[in-house]
Amino acid sequence: MCGIVGYIGEKNAVDIILDGLHRLEYRGYDSAGISVLTDGELDSVRSVGKLAALESKLKTTPLSGPSGIGHTRWATHGVPSEANAHPHHDDPQAIAVVHNGIIENYLELGAKLREKGFEFRSETDTETIAHLIRLYFEGDLFTAVKRALQDVRGAYAIGVICSDDPGVLVAARSGSPLVVGLGKDESFIASDAAAILNYTREVLYLEDGQACEVRRDGYTVHDLQGVPQQLDIQTVDWDQSQAEKGGYPHFMLKEIHEQPEVIRNTIGGRISKDHSEVVWEDGLLDDSLLETCDRIMIVACGTAWHAGLVGKRLIESLAKVPVEIDIASEFRYRDLLIPPNTIVMAITQSGETADTLQALRAAKNRGATILSLVNAIGSTIARESDAVIYLRAGLEIGVASTKAYTAMLAALTLLAVDLGRRRKSLTAQEATALLTGLQQVPTKIQEILDNQGSILQCAADNRFRDANSALFLGRGYSLPTALEGALKLKEISYIHAEAYGAGEMKHGAIALVTDKLPVIFIAPRSATHEKIISNIQEVRARSGIILAIATQGDTGIAQHCDEVIYIPDCPEPLSPILAAIPLQLLAYYISVNRGCDVDQPRNLAKSVTVE
Ligand code: F6R
Repeated sequence: MCGIVGYIGEKNAVDIILDGLHRLEYRGYDSAGISVLTDGELDSVRSVGKLAALESKLKTTPLSGPSGIGHTRWATHGVPSEANAHPHHDDPQAIAVVHNGIIENYLELGAKLREKGFEFRSETDTETIAHLIRLYFEGDLFTAVKRALQDVRGAYAIGVICSDDPGVLVAARSGSPLVVGLGKDESFIASDAAAILNYTREVLYLEDGQACEVRRDGYTVHDLQGVPQQLDIQTVDWDQSQAEKGGYPHFMLKEIHEQPEVIRNTIGGRISKDHSEVVWEDGLLDDSLLETCDRIMIVACGTAWHAGLVGKRLIESLAKVPVEIDIASEFRYRDLLIPPNTIVMAITQSGETADTLQALRAAKNRGATILSLVNAIGSTIARESDAVIYLRAGLEIGVASTKAYTAMLAALTLLAVDLGRRRKSLTAQEATALLTGLQQVPTKIQEILDNQGSILQCAADNRFRDANSALFLGRGYSLPTALEGALKLKEISYIHAEAYGAGEMKHGAIALVTDKLPVIFIAPRSATHEKIISNIQEVRARSGIILAIATQGDTGIAQHCDEVIYIPDCPEPLSPILAAIPLQLLAYYISVNRGCDVDQPRNLAKSVTVE
């Protein structure tokens, strides 16, 4: 999940690499480094901490040259330190390697290399690659990289330069994303196209097992055995402003505010004119499988898993198809019983999450059909699925996921309605009510965004802002919302937060309630509303500080609570989308009020491409 950028051309590689690394800093920021080739010499500067630390070091040790590679790191092997920062080098310091991923057999390879006399200077798995390339180097870097990678087991995206073969930059991938950008008399590599959009929109998405020799005037793609590979050049059509903050102080806030537009995009063109049917892009999945599948198994991580929990309720209630849901990292390592006629559904913003990808592959090996909900076009999970519903949420940069989450919920609603119609468990009128409600969601989100007074007030209130811990409670459709609200708060404000089924609270978590504990009830209009009011009373009787997220017009709830944040009314299955918005904003403003780094929360990275 580290960030990689490389350049070869006529300009100063350092400026272009630093610019790209800034756009990728959300991928990891515990150290950074850069290597360039200047007049046949390899020079490197590395530094612990954020990119700013590398930049100030570059002021005292300036580098420049027409080709180079850079890296911003999220540590996996070895503590964040200068020695462990990338790029890593071979023994004569002629080769430099940047790497994203994990080399699983690095200890075994390291032992063999040490026997041959190679000396290691870091604790990283990456350094092994640099020495292996040296071992096989006979004057041609591309050949040496391909040969070295044949010995490697694990996940990688790498960029390599070498002072003994200065006219090329070599890139390769297996399990971690890598793009090659093509400009006029210049070429680029990057772990994410966002890093190079300032310079080119023409890119190649390398496939697993491919290596690319990148020259300033062209490229050659091979598999590791040297067999030429054909790859289509793709044009990235993101707006560059999408990769920037658009006037907001943080990407997270910008992305929260984008949600009305995002939901419009997610559902755009996918609802029939009379609002009674879902219309997918051509050939989504074999129609008969959607009509007859016996089971759906959802795999996802983190926020995407919370979306999956809502998806399970939606699909079971609207389409009457049994749904199992697993955290992807658990799914892969259990005895997988996947009956025939099962659809396995991976839900993922990045399309690169290693746990979700491995779960998908395990399911595929057992014959399941894979239907994925993915945001990142061209990502590995999108490419390895039998069918993909794209979320169309645009580039999400904030480490705490917001717009991708609500886009997942909107896409899952479409899917559940579609399945319900196909399987005749949902009447045209019921479908129309839900799809019409879904079309109104963007306006209702905008209403919440335009009326943030009570949210800002709670976020500034020291009972919430300075809490050590918080409890989020919900029932039914609102339980996943409680989980998501708690995750948002803990990941960006570092307040410990737990989420529980409101009815389950009395079986244990109620012991936590004191007059210092904020308890956030997700209580929109629902089939279990009376029950949740009873749960609120239980917390009130124990002096907990109660904040409820409730439906406009529910004035009665206020008498039981300290604070209420209202959301517009909507059909219950759509309430998770609306209820998520104030919880995102609450977490955001509490984080800002506590002086936390919203877009770069400690220990986190945007896409988790290691297991
Ligand atoms: C939390 C968050 C993570 C991701 C998780 C899965 O705000 O962003 O929990 O949801 O890492 O990521 P994707 O959806 O890219 O598979």
